[in-house]
Amino acid sequence: MEDRIIDPNIAQEDSDEVSLRPSRLSQFIGQERVKKNLQTFLEAAKTRDPKKLGKGEGILDHILFYGPPGLGKTTLAVIVASELGVSLKRTTGKALERAGDVAAILTGLSEGDILFVDEIHRMNPQIEETFYSAMEDFRFDIVLGKGPSARTITLPLNRFTLIGATTRISLLSSPLRDRFGIIERLEYYNPPELAEVAKRASKALGVEIDRELAHLLAKRARGTPRIVLRLLRRARDFAVVSGTNVIGKEVLLETFKALEVNDYGLDKMDRRLLETIIERFSGGPVGLETMAAILGEDRDSVEDVIEPYLLQEGMIERTPRGRVVLEKGYVACGLKPRVKNDFLF
Ligand SMILES: Nc1ncnc2c1ncn2[C@@H]1O[C@H](COP(=O)(O)OP(=O)(O)O)[C@@H](O)[C@H]1O
Ligand SMILES: [Mg+2]
Repeated sequence: MEDRIIDPNIAQEDSDEVSLRPSRLSQFIGQERVKKNLQTFLEAAKTRDPKKLGKGEGILDHILFYGPPGLGKTTLAVIVASELGVSLKRTTGKALERAGDVAAILTGLSEGDILFVDEIHRMNPQIEETFYSAMEDFRFDIVLGKGPSARTITLPLNRFTLIGATTRISLLSSPLRDRFGIIERLEYYNPPELAEVAKRASKALGVEIDRELAHLLAKRARGTPRIVLRLLRRARDFAVVSGTNVIGKEVLLETFKALEVNDYGLDKMDRRLLETIIERFSGGPVGLETMAAILGEDRDSVEDVIEPYLLQEGMIERTPRGRVVLEKGYVACGLKPRVKNDFLF
């Protein structure tokens, strides 16, 4: 997605991120339901004695985290590993191209280790199939040769936990999905939670921001911790340049302006989407394909990155005939809602 300053997909901040990523479940803010479930599963896995149990028992079940970008899926995977004291190997669905790559990774895992596969929906079908027996029976079947002389050899694996993350759970095949014992959906955060994220991160970044301003920042972060952190870093830069380590209101407003984030936390791309529907389709309905083509984005980004927040905030609505902008969407673009007409409502 072209220069979207708050594009939650960009992980470019990873270098100084280390200190900002919570490493314990107790430091992870919000997502109470998910945390409570994980706590229970972790306790159970820790107290079971693997030696006395059958295949797969005593090992944490495979976990799938799904939800929009920047809400903490990767962070939770890392936390699970550190809570269990096991090591975590990371890869992505797209990087796993050949069965041989998968075999190398899986046979390299020790008992209880975690394999984290980000963007797991991007695995190709052949690779995906190799995971079925790996996840279920901890064995890896590799076919050697072709045609009638082909034979299968089976590599035994140590028992491991697969943690998958995806923004698109609908693209996962059901055989794969069914092999995850734990499936957790991450939700957008509310402003008080995001303000807390900002407060804690500001300490790590060596800057000060008061409660009220942390809240102002939180309200413009699209419900997303990654965006809070990005805005905070930029605000820190502005503060430092003006010779202080205190983030004041002026600095904050300057940051929003520089990053083109409006009062409702909408960025350029959000506004373009809303304005396109409003101006070119008198508020809708307009089909996803048409809209994606006009915005010059692929439909996946529109559906999984831009729209979920606008939907949850009640700015747009999905109808059988396409997307419609609701009153709140007009207001968020600084426009007057059009008069409701019977045709639509
Ligand atoms: N609940 C949370 N509390 C504190 N920081 C968080 C939380 N969730 C996410 N973050 C931070 O936000 C950033 C993005 O999180 P990440 O786990 O990479 O998201 P995802 O994998 O879902 O795209 C990271 O820097 C992470 O430390
Ligand atoms: Mg991630």
